[in-house]
Amino acid sequence: MEIIIQPTAAVASGIAARLVARLLREKPSAVLGLATGNTPRMLYQELARRKLEWSKVTTFDLDEYVGLPPEHPGSYYQFMRENLFRHVNVTPANIHVPDGMTKDIPGFCAHYEQAIRAAGGIDLQVLGIGSDGHIGFNEPTSSLSSRTRIKTLTAQTRRDNSKFFECEADVPHHVITMGIGTILEARQIVLLAFGEQKAQAIAQAVEGPISAMCPASVLQLHPDTKVFLDEAASRLLTKVDYYRWVYDNKPDWQKTSGP
Ligand code: GLP
Repeated sequence: MEIIIQPTAAVASGIAARLVARLLREKPSAVLGLATGNTPRMLYQELARRKLEWSKVTTFDLDEYVGLPPEHPGSYYQFMRENLFRHVNVTPANIHVPDGMTKDIPGFCAHYEQAIRAAGGIDLQVLGIGSDGHIGFNEPTSSLSSRTRIKTLTAQTRRDNSKFFECEADVPHHVITMGIGTILEARQIVLLAFGEQKAQAIAQAVEGPISAMCPASVLQLHPDTKVFLDEAASRLLTKVDYYRWVYDNKPDWQKTSGP
């Protein structure tokens, strides 16, 4: 894992955006895995501002609430439309968000996995992290080799995500999420975490043991994961000085900077 600590979420998101932009320039038909939540908002804003070419890009979102139609304001489809899709020239047929209204959840999940494979696999997966260490909606104790499937949210996640609904009771209990095994197959992973409330999950994910109790810790097994943090989210890491030194002293060919 490469840990990149920046003074603010805006600076960190800007560097992450450069990484995504570089991929889209080098591979116009790139396949992106996308995350929802407040965390990637600035990354998406920055990508939209850059006026990149998205017409051949394919996207797969990590997850969606079961029972919410795409037009529901709390649905992840709406979130993606508002925060990214309507600002870039992505081809609608290339957008994939799990169907929370499907009548056949296992069939849909198998189809989603197949669609990712048919697209050639995910080149770059954007991730946030839940305050309990979840990625996608893979809650603690999720199988570390799980595939796309239905999951039940914990009380903490429903509480955390109630900010996108009128009240906590409106947050669905069930979701469809890419599995941890699905996420691990992405060629490159960019995890973003900002704010004090993510510090503990980040410490466990980056420096703790690999454990299903902190699903993000499985990223320690992934060969190309970059973790972008602001100061607050890095607060409980013990090797901050080392991570900073590594980043500040990279050989040019390894740098995440550039246009
Ligand atoms: C949800 C999403 C995750 C996201 C998490 C954190 O649970 N399924 O993909 O990382 O929320 O959200 P936020 O960025 O709003 O803190």
